[in-house]
Amino acid sequence: MRLETIVLAIGMVSLVAGAAQQNRQSEPKFPLSLFAKATEDDYIGSESCAPCHGEQVKNFKYSGHASYSNNPKLAHGYQGCESCHGPGKFHLDEDNPENIAYSKITPKEINAACMRCHGETMSAGEWHSTAHAQGNVSCTSCHQIHPKPFGEAEKPDISGASNPTVVAKPAPKKLLKSEESKLCADCHKSEAAQFRLNSHHPVPEGRLECSDCHAVHPTNKSRKDMKSVKGACVSCHAEKAGPFVYEHDMGTIGDGCAECHRAHGSHNPELLKSFSRGLCAQCHTEKATTHYPGRTCWTAGCHVAMHGSNTDPNFLKR
Ligand code: HEC
Ligand code: HEC
Ligand code: HEC
Ligand code: HEC
Ligand code: HEC
Ligand code: HEC
Ligand code: HEC
Ligand code: HEC
Ligand code: HEC
Repeated sequence: MRLETIVLAIGMVSLVAGAAQQNRQSEPKFPLSLFAKATEDDYIGSESCAPCHGEQVKNFKYSGHASYSNNPKLAHGYQGCESCHGPGKFHLDEDNPENIAYSKITPKEINAACMRCHGETMSAGEWHSTAHAQGNVSCTSCHQIHPKPFGEAEKPDISGASNPTVVAKPAPKKLLKSEESKLCADCHKSEAAQFRLNSHHPVPEGRLECSDCHAVHPTNKSRKDMKSVKGACVSCHAEKAGPFVYEHDMGTIGDGCAECHRAHGSHNPELLKSFSRGLCAQCHTEKATTHYPGRTCWTAGCHVAMHGSNTDPNFLKR
């Protein structure tokens, strides 16, 4: 084949592919279909919702979205209530009312409606490959768009107090439904329980959050970081990763830090998986019976530089 023919052939293929893609894009599924078929006239503006949905209109100014979506320069489909619920004319159509009612649609549809604008947080493909998306968790499982009116959010019970004072609780950040550690714990009870063990990462103390380690909206990049447990641990404990003159290079044969530590909590001190010689014997099997200094290999005062040493190849000194 001559070069021009090849170029032409490639051109044809991409033209056909492009047309197919355009075809797919021109017939999006619900709820994106509502925006696709709307003309400017189908949008009636947020004020028009007030007579029937006064509460939502009144409180919307407290939502993180208000400052953005009240911008009159945006295209109609990106403004106010209708940017999430669809064009008002369709909703008020007597014969065939259509709108996006988040309490009635599927998680997939909810995610598609939010991802319409949140492609920067992550791409749709990245979201669909998360355990959450596959487990039918949606954006609104964790996020709440309409804030409760000020003061009603989480009223503390002060009825029994002798000197009741009004305790103003700040709303959870990032439009979360509740404080993050509580939000995650509500669905992940067994992981939350691990943080009640003697030694644990200080999540209950409020010094760390689940999302400091877990990328809730993982992009392909952050997912890669989390895959290797070592990568995730050393983002905070860099000094444990070296480089050392003498590396204890278990990372090459196993899971790095996870060979010896639990991530959430442990009965043992310092989040250790085991507090016996067994911790070391899982790899150094030859030392299990013949080499017995007493206690554990590190508390006996011998291998004190477990993570690596700059002075001693046997990790006897740091
Ligand atoms: C004339 C009154 C009226 C106006 C104006 C109106 N709505 Fe509604 N809306 C209703 C009624 C009635 C329902 C309940 C329909 C049902 O339950 O099937 C409803 C339902 C909804 C729901 C679904 C609630 C749910 O969980 O089922 C949403 C969302 C909504 N409206 C948003 C809007 C928005 C946004 C606007 C402005 C663009 C708007 N509405 C304007 C009367 C109105
Ligand atoms: C950023 C997206 C977004 C915007 C903008 C938005 N809503 Fe909503 N709306 C939601 C979601 C999500 C829900 C489901 C409940 C929740 O998560 O807070 C909802 C619920 C509702 C409901 C049903 C109440 C219920 O509890 O089911 C009504 C009515 C409503 N919204 C009206 C409005 C009106 C009126 C506006 C404009 C002032 C508006 N919404 C702006 C996302 C949005
Ligand atoms: C029409 C576009 C649009 C839609 C639809 C939309 N958002 Fe947003 N959202 C934005 C923009 C823009 C911001 C950034 C606002 C800012 O930085 O002030 C934002 C901010 C947020 C934030 C961060 C708020 C904060 O305090 O930092 C969350 C969480 C969020 N959106 C969740 C959602 C969810 C959940 C949905 C679906 C129910 C949704 N959004 C639908 C445009 C949209
Ligand atoms: C499992 C709970 C959970 C789900 C599901 C979830 N989020 Fe979030 N989201 C969070 C948490 C926690 C934060 C704050 C910490 C962070 O930014 O990682 C957050 C923050 C955000 C922010 C602010 C980001 C920033 O950088 O400030 C946006 C926007 C957002 N989420 C949008 C979405 C959208 C869109 C979806 C659905 C596709 C979604 N979230 C699903 C928990 C969740
Ligand atoms: C509405 C319930 C719900 C909430 C809230 C929730 N999750 Fe999940 N989470 C799930 C489900 C369902 C799965 C799917 C796997 C499973 O069944 O455990 C999952 C899976 C996970 C996984 C396992 C990922 C994997 O690859 O196996 C992690 C990590 C996780 N969630 C972290 C979090 C964090 C952090 C939060 C808080 C920001 C959170 N989740 C909030 C329901 C939830
Ligand atoms: C210090 C970092 C860190 C913190 C903080 C953290 N995690 Fe994890 N989590 C990990 C690591 C690393 C793993 C994978 C290794 C493992 O399974 O032990 C993991 C695994 C998980 C899994 C998957 C378990 C499975 O069986 O696949 C869930 C679910 C989870 N974490 C939820 C949470 C929740 C909820 C919180 C907050 C209450 C939290 N994590 C806080 C590091 C952390
Ligand atoms: C987001 C930051 C962060 C990440 C990521 C992180 N840690 Fe931590 N780690 C902390 C903080 C904060 C403490 C508490 C330090 C203190 O109390 O001074 C801690 C404490 C520890 C301790 C000592 C616990 C004790 O009981 O004394 C160990 C061991 C530990 N981390 C191991 C790990 C391992 C293994 C990983 C990876 C799974 C990891 N860390 C990931 C922040 C982090
Ligand atoms: C071969 C087993 C082993 C591996 C692998 C390991 N540790 Fe440790 N780690 C220990 C032992 C044993 C202790 C307690 C003795 C000590 O303090 O050195 C400890 C203590 C710690 C402490 C708390 C004490 C301190 O010095 O702050 C942190 C934090 C820690 N490890 C982080 C890590 C990180 C991060 C990794 C991965 C890069 C890792 N560990 C890999 C065995 C290990
Ligand atoms: C996940 C496997 C693994 C675990 C668990 C582990 N090691 Fe190692 N260790 C290694 C590897 C691999 C080397 C390098 C061996 C080599 O080069 O021949 C090594 C090297 C050493 C060395 C240097 C001398 C030598 O044999 O090369 C000492 C000392 C040592 N480890 C002590 C310990 C102690 C003490 C523990 C328990 C706290 C421990 N190791 C846990 C895999 C492990």
